[in-house]
Amino acid sequence: MNTALTTTESITYYQGFQVRPHTENPRLQVVTIEKSTLTKFNEETDEWGLQAIEYKPFLRYAAADILDRACNYELGTLLNEIMQDREKAAFLLEADDSAQADFVDSDEQRDFFVILSTAVSHLIGLPNFDAMYGKYYARFTVENDDNSDSYLRQAHRRMELHNDGTYVDERTDFVLMMKMSEKNMEMGDSLLLHIDDWEDLEHFYNHSLAKQDIVWATPPSKNIHSQVEHPVFFEEDKNGKPHMLFIDQFACPQRMQEGLYLYKMGESLESDTNCFNVRVKIGAMLVVQNHCWLHGRDKFISHPGLKRELLRQRGHFTNK
Ligand SMILES: [Fe+2]
Repeated sequence: MNTALTTTESITYYQGFQVRPHTENPRLQVVTIEKSTLTKFNEETDEWGLQAIEYKPFLRYAAADILDRACNYELGTLLNEIMQDREKAAFLLEADDSAQADFVDSDEQRDFFVILSTAVSHLIGLPNFDAMYGKYYARFTVENDDNSDSYLRQAHRRMELHNDGTYVDERTDFVLMMKMSEKNMEMGDSLLLHIDDWEDLEHFYNHSLAKQDIVWATPPSKNIHSQVEHPVFFEEDKNGKPHMLFIDQFACPQRMQEGLYLYKMGESLESDTNCFNVRVKIGAMLVVQNHCWLHGRDKFISHPGLKRELLRQRGHFTNK
């Protein structure tokens, strides 16, 4: 268990960081890292650099340990407690205001963000190989114009609520989404909906197709040329509550009944009033338990100079 230093109002203070519930939905925990913690972390990981961390996987755990040590070994415990608690199961980790004020638009700064995200992911689990980028993480850019074959990089569309890992044959317990840089951006917040807040959950979970296999396949850009089969409600957690794997773009229904079940599910999710917006600042990361949270992205206001770079890591828990 964690030992909080003090709690005032809704903020709990620990050595090197603090935690409070998000104003839009108290399930989401906002973890603010102090500037002194990030400085210590940077000093100790700087000698390796990102390339060494990419070449030597054990350095990723060493980086995680440095961050946790700077927080009196209470950060890792807390992040795991959050992720294993279905009532929460998500955190927004960001730097405090004074650290954010020092962030600059440079490659070195972005390398630091990758290393920081690596430390956080390795405190809760192990990232899966990302076939789109060829590493344990992926970086990608969203610009004003895009001709790719999925909504991932397309700015003017709302990216509908979904789970990640629907079309791969490995567990995707968590998704980490980090903002690396951003220019000329209006709107485009992250969208979140906890399955237990979804008003129509009972209807779709008790439906005759809830546990029937669906075929899931991907467009070519994902570099995964196979398809998998699993139900939308593919398992229950340790308390018997549903875990979900759904994404509208990659479901390949094989008959009318399946098609209409998935169509109505998408309509229901997109109109649910408990979905909420989360602003992710530069250098901040949103981490969700992927099977009980659906995530998406609001559309952007068009701007010719619009550019946003994101990083993602998807992986499985190792501390259950
Ligand atoms: Fe996603």
